[in-house]
Amino acid sequence: MIPSATAPIGVFDSGAGGISVLKRLWKLMPNENYIYFGDSANAPYGVRPVEEIRALTVRAAQDLFQRGCKALVLACNTATSAAAQTLREMYPDVPIIGLEPALKPAALSGGHPTVVVMATPVTLREEKFTRLTERFQDDCNLIKLPAPELVTLVEQNKMGTPELTAYLQALFAPLQKTKIDCLVLGCTHFPFAKREIKALLGEQVKLFDGAVGEAKYTKVVLEERGMRAPQNAKGEILFLSSDETKLPLLRQLFDFEL
Ligand code: DGL
Repeated sequence: MIPSATAPIGVFDSGAGGISVLKRLWKLMPNENYIYFGDSANAPYGVRPVEEIRALTVRAAQDLFQRGCKALVLACNTATSAAAQTLREMYPDVPIIGLEPALKPAALSGGHPTVVVMATPVTLREEKFTRLTERFQDDCNLIKLPAPELVTLVEQNKMGTPELTAYLQALFAPLQKTKIDCLVLGCTHFPFAKREIKALLGEQVKLFDGAVGEAKYTKVVLEERGMRAPQNAKGEILFLSSDETKLPLLRQLFDFEL
């Protein structure tokens, strides 16, 4: 059955991080309906075996399609590296929009910059990111920085706490003598720690994340396929989580100023 134009867009993340993408989608397309599903009961994904992440992502996608979603936005770099290809093979007629760390704009920002890519261990070691680095490694000095615990700290709503600051201080300590030009937030949870990151590294470090780009690309894909909701429609968002105690956090992060 072909879903109607007012059918919801499914937005998926391992947990609460994908709200940073949902915010951008909503800003760009407030006339669309959305179902956000965060798999917080199984987060973090980024330290799990890739087969497990794939199975969890496929299960979540199946559930969103059963709920009538017309498209799926993978608001998770880790789930994209593990499962986007499989999902596109399973659902060849459905738009499935994936996410990757915003290395390209950072590497091409000029002057052969030093670019630190912060992401989950899985994102940094999977083939998708390896292919991306092959394209841009000559344009910059690339440093990979896995930061899996930052996912857990955001899931625990630890923004603005000394615990989060202490974690970031320890994470960046080995880079103390490095002049960082660009920092890529290659995990959708990380923009929620932007304030603390800026306070630690200074305002001169340029931050990049893929959420705006993914939202814009989703709009283009839906327009190309004639799948946009009517312009005058009033969209709604349904928040779902595999851990219901996280529902207030999802709503709180939706109001978080990024
Ligand atoms: N938010 C996810 C991402 O963009 C990963 C979080 C996790 O490890 O569960 O990569």
